Parts: sequence; C-alpha cells; structure tokens
Amino acid sequence: MTVAYKSSRDSFTFGAAPGGLPLLGHVLRLWRRPLEFLTSLPASGDLVEFRIGVRRAYIACHLGLVHQVLRDSRTFDKGGPLFEKARLLVGNGLVSSEWEDHRQQRRLVQPAFHHTRMPGYVEIMGNEIDSELSSWRTGQVFSVSDATHTLTMRITARTMFATQVGAHAAAEVTECMPIIMRGVYKRMFAPISWWERIPTRSNRLFDEAQARLREVINQTISDYRQANSDQGDVLSILVNARDEATGQGMTDQEIHDQVMTILIGGTETTGNTLAWTFYLLAEHPEIEERLHAEVDGVLGGRPPRFADLPHLVYTRRVLTETLRMYPPAWLLSRTTSREVELAGRRLPPGTPVFYSPYMLGRDPDLFPNPGRFDPDRWLPDRAATLPRDAVLPFGGGGRKCIGDDFGMAETTLTLAATAARWRLRKVAATKVSTTPKASLGTGPLPMVAQPRSAAAAGVAAGHPAE
Ligand code: HEM
Repeated sequence: MTVAYKSSRDSFTFGAAPGGLPLLGHVLRLWRRPLEFLTSLPASGDLVEFRIGVRRAYIACHLGLVHQVLRDSRTFDKGGPLFEKARLLVGNGLVSSEWEDHRQQRRLVQPAFHHTRMPGYVEIMGNEIDSELSSWRTGQVFSVSDATHTLTMRITARTMFATQVGAHAAAEVTECMPIIMRGVYKRMFAPISWWERIPTRSNRLFDEAQARLREVINQTISDYRQANSDQGDVLSILVNARDEATGQGMTDQEIHDQVMTILIGGTETTGNTLAWTFYLLAEHPEIEERLHAEVDGVLGGRPPRFADLPHLVYTRRVLTETLRMYPPAWLLSRTTSREVELAGRRLPPGTPVFYSPYMLGRDPDLFPNPGRFDPDRWLPDRAATLPRDAVLPFGGGGRKCIGDDFGMAETTLTLAATAARWRLRKVAATKVSTTPKASLGTGPLPMVAQPRSAAAAGVAAGHPAE
C-alpha cells in the first residue's frame, strides 16, 4: 500500500530537472509558473537538481528526504541570498537567524507561545473577529482577501501590544505593515539591489513606513520596560524573558527583530489561509453545509470561545485540508553549513536546498486526487493511514513554526464565527489568481456577504471568550 511504499524507503533516487536554459537555468520556469514547475519535479527523482542562473540548487521531493533535511537544522541551516534580503527587514529574528543564534532565541521567545497564554490571546482574537464581522453589510461585494489580511494583522498587532500604551503601536502596525509587506517581496526578488535606493514613490513610502514602525516599536519596548509587568501579551514576554543559563535578557534591537518577525510571520500566513478557505467553501456548498451544522450545534448562535476549540473538529479538518492544498509557505529554503550527503549526492557547504509544502500536499501517492477539496481525508481513521507529518504547512524540526497553535486557534475561531453569521458567495468577478509570492495568496477575491439568518447576522455583541 502507498504508506508502506513511502515510509519504507531507505534509499532515494536522484535526478536533474529537465528544460534548463543556458545562463538562466530554470529561473524563468520558476518565476512564471512556479507551482506547475514544482509539481513536475518529483517525476525526475526524490532529490532533484535545478539551476538558479548558473548556480546549482536542490529540492527534496520525497517526504522522507524532507524530514531528513528538517531534522538536521544545524547542517541544513537558514542562509543564502534570500535570507540576506529578509534580514534587512526583520533583522536577526527567529525566521532568519542561523543555528547558533536561533537556539538561544527560540528558548527566549517560546514562552510567548506557551499553551497557558492562549486563552488570553483568544479573547483578543474574539474581539477583533467580532468587530470585523460586524462591519460587513448584506449584499456588499468586498475583497475577502483584504478583509482577512486586515483582520489577521489587527489580531497579531493586538496580541503583541495588548495594552492602552500598545494601542498606538498596534494602529501604526496596521497602517505601515501592508506597505512594508509589498516592499519585502519586491526587494527579495529584485534582480538588482541598487533599485531600492532610487527615490521612487514606492521606495520612499517603504522607507517611511519602516522608520515609523521602528520608532513606535522602540518607544513601546521602552514603555514596557518601565512598566515591568506582564500585560498578558507577547511583548511582555519578550521584554521580561531571561536566558536560564546566563540570566541575560534581550536587547532592544533583539526584541525589535523578534517583534517584526512575529508580525510578518503571523499575518500573511493566516490571512491567506482564511481567504483560500472562504473560496473553497463557496466552491463546495455541501462542505459549507456540514461546517454550518457543526458551528450551529457547538455555538448555538453565540460567538466562539476558547473552550469551543476542541469541539470544532470539522472546522479544523476544513482548515487542515486548505493548508494541504494551499500552504501559505509554499517554498522554503535552507543552505548547507558543511559538506553533507543527501540521496547519495555530496553537497558542498553553501548549497541551497529547498522543500515545498505545496509539492508535498499534491503528492498523488499520499493524497489520491490531490486537487479535490476533501476535509474527510483528515478523519482519524483515514489520517492514520498516512505517514507521520505527511503534510508540512508549518515546517518541522527545530525550525517548525512557533505560532502553529496560535495560527490554528485564530483561523478556527475566525472560520467558526464567520460561518455562524455569514455566507460568502462568489460573484462574476470571483476568480483566484493563485499568486505565489512570499506567501501563496488568492489575489483580491471579490465576494458578496449574505447573512445566514437575521438572528445569526445579529450576533454581534457578547464577549467571545470566557
Ligand atoms: C496558518 C498559519 C501559519 C503557517 C502556515 C505558518 C507557516 C510557517 C512555516 C512553514 C514556518 C517554517 C519556515 C521554514 O521551515 O523555514 C514558520 C515559521 C515561523 N512562523 Fe509561522 N505559520 C503560520 C502562523 C504563524 C503565526 C500566527 C505566527 C506568530 C504569531 C508565526 C510565526 C512564525 C515564526 C516566528 C517562525 C520562525 C520559527 C523558527 O525558526 O524558530 N507563524 N511558519
């Protein structure tokens, strides 16, 4: 059976991607039709060599090899040209730091995502979700993708800075971050680095947004240091964190880098997951109906609370299936820090090695008819036939997403609260443009909001968390 075939593999095949061009290699294919290019690669081998310009790069196409790469985060470290660009923006934060720094950083930041913090965060999430859903109007056509991104940005900002003092910072984040995010992508993939120094309007706006954000984050860190108490938010943990071995805390610069990293890591990912989910539900009314049945049964018309999360099992399956089909982090890279053998190939230090959660989720051996949206793939009986960690939307190993539980709670609550009150319907212009940028997005996604019932649409007040 498929599972045995996948999990029993102890030797891996190697191949080269066809169709590379002189000097350009596979850059054009990766640039123009990245998802088609990625899903074509497993046919060439378990580990596939391709070229970015004249430079050799590798992609692990087999799940077993991807696990091997993720398990050894010292050898397959963060690094390479994309990360150098990312560091200009998020500094040396969790996502971009190399192995040695990362170990200590992760110990310091992890408590901010401890499960005991979640009820407090869920309360903040509930307030933001409620205010977003209450702003929707019957029959209004709006960009669902803009709405989900604004919501997730507000949630990340408010869980970062929950206090009165932090309210100004959260407002600045909500305003500046979209400008910064647009600039990040351009800078990461711009073929020429002097482009960003030309005083164009977009470069000026980008520089201004960065400066404003830096100032407000630094001011808020200083306010929190003076207050010297736990406000129940992420920043309180970062400011008060101490290394067990040395007793040392983080400097303002280190905290700033983690704040930026979390704001960026926590917004696009959840915003895109929700946008894809609403699109898929509009395409599959029978699945939407089952979701409504669960939400009505569990919530009985009130907003969701922390205690509801374990009962929203179908809601979670819908999200897990969305993440299989459209993982926001669709392509990720590592750089070898020493010579290493992978699938029988000797890779010198400094070799780029990629993995793609998108490619893994589309493996027909593991997921028959992979283009079919089928949340029941994740019923316990069926999921038990899959190898462990068969999809990796949150990555794995020492660099696994630190916000995985936070992100699942946030998307589950948003989906349940929305399904209790609204149906999102397609309009003539509703098309997804599957935009694989820094994160895999839907494009603008215009849809129309219809209240499920007068009573459901009226559920606006009420405190969502206990
Ligand atoms: C659906 C939601 C999310 C998805 C799909 C997602 C995906 C990922 C993935 C794939 C990685 C690993 C990257 C790699 O292997 O190079 C990662 C790392 C990370 N994510 Fe998420 N993420 C999500 C939500 C969040 C949230 C809500 C936060 C914070 C509030 C967050 C913060 C981070 C951070 C800080 C890292 C770096 C972890 C480290 O290297 O120690 N993510 N995320």
